[in-house]
Amino acid sequence: MTAQPFHLAWFGAGGFGVKSWGKTWSGDGGRNWTDPQLFIDLARALERACFDYLIMEDSSYVPDAYGGNAKHYLASATATPKLDPTVLAPVLAASTSRLGIVPTLSVTEYHPYMLARKINTMDHMSRGRTGWNIVTSSSHRAAQNYGRDEQVEHDMRYDMADEFFDLACRLWDSWDADAVVLDEENGIWADHRKVHTVDFEGKFFKSRGPLNGNRSPQGRPVFVQAGGSDRGREFAAGTANSIISGTSGGVEGMKVFRDDVIARMKRLGRNPGDCKTLFMASPVLGETDAEAREKREGQRAWTEAHPELGLLHLSRHSGIDFSVFPLDEPIADTVQTNGHQQMLRQVIGLTPREFLRQSQGAVEFVGSPDSVAAQMDEVMQEVGGDGFLISNFDLNRRYISEITDGLVPALQRRGLVRTEYAHDMFRDNLLEF
Ligand SMILES: Cc1cc2nc3c(=O)[nH]c(=O)nc-3n(C[C@H](O)[C@H](O)[C@H](O)COP(=O)(O)O)c2cc1C
Repeated sequence: MTAQPFHLAWFGAGGFGVKSWGKTWSGDGGRNWTDPQLFIDLARALERACFDYLIMEDSSYVPDAYGGNAKHYLASATATPKLDPTVLAPVLAASTSRLGIVPTLSVTEYHPYMLARKINTMDHMSRGRTGWNIVTSSSHRAAQNYGRDEQVEHDMRYDMADEFFDLACRLWDSWDADAVVLDEENGIWADHRKVHTVDFEGKFFKSRGPLNGNRSPQGRPVFVQAGGSDRGREFAAGTANSIISGTSGGVEGMKVFRDDVIARMKRLGRNPGDCKTLFMASPVLGETDAEAREKREGQRAWTEAHPELGLLHLSRHSGIDFSVFPLDEPIADTVQTNGHQQMLRQVIGLTPREFLRQSQGAVEFVGSPDSVAAQMDEVMQEVGGDGFLISNFDLNRRYISEITDGLVPALQRRGLVRTEYAHDMFRDNLLEF
């Protein structure tokens, strides 16, 4: 490759839930959504296109923030239903051989031992291709499903995440890499001197250890994180191998975000090359630039006609009922949330309608595959790296093919993304360039 290559990952927005539904290219997506075949097809297409990873979003509650009840969410199958991504992950791993598989698990919903054990099992089963999207959860409804009255306060959730991460890592390290000796002559499967308790007692969590499974191919999974607030970025900079960014503000916003991550990593004593920041993008592709522009206009018109559908996400992520805000009045900076801070910051000062007109991601990519490849090249050169997280709420096989069979070959022709995997394991591929 002559150009500076970048990475590609795919965000499974809406998780293991209803994807495209009731639209021209949805197929039977509304009815057969519990069948994992769409995700298997997605994972195989991504692997053919040499993506780094597929991340499966998750949350575990039925939202009711918009309008004060679940009506709109259930009627439109928005953010609900969702099945467990940790059950889907091994199916995807068994259908592929190189792609990284990243389920989402929350530090306020799991105990560290249970999470470490699950991920250890998945990393064994996938032969070193498992990641963990580390989230803290944000909704009171999720907290109430797990026995608390309210969600933990925003910054304290990240304090919990710090401690959780520390303990989980100790558990993953509790078996030395050479603990399994397989000494048939002396009848020793594992050397007990190489398996250690962790005896952890923190502010939030306690565990004796060791894990009851030996070290997996990667030892620790690939850590993915998406915190956007000051506290969230600090946590991500200290832990992540890949930060997925929903930042706004165009190319400048992306650059500021990445530079900030790099500065934080250096301050924390980490090598910035050990974490790849990927920016959300939802390319709109057509045979020609004109066709793609027309398609984007169609999307805008659809959003204009269904503003409540766009606001469902904003409401559930912030816990604020946006159905009571006039569509054409700016949101005041007095509005506060214990939910996603970055997202709320992006809406303050705009009217809800203006917010909905914005694209998903900091920059909009619209055009033929070759035009979009050129646009992505330009943006990455300005930002300095490290790639894109492709995301589309209306997921169907046509869109998957537009990206993997149209856009990716155009990027490959320009030497911008890999044409083959160099390694067997996820982290090795991710940190290769
Ligand atoms: C691309 C992306 C994917 C995310 N995926 C999830 C998810 O699957 N589950 C979840 O609870 N939160 C998810 N989040 C939310 C983040 O983990 C985090 O809570 C959010 O970005 C707000 O962070 P902040 O309050 O530090 O700004 C995601 C955020 C982004 C930008």
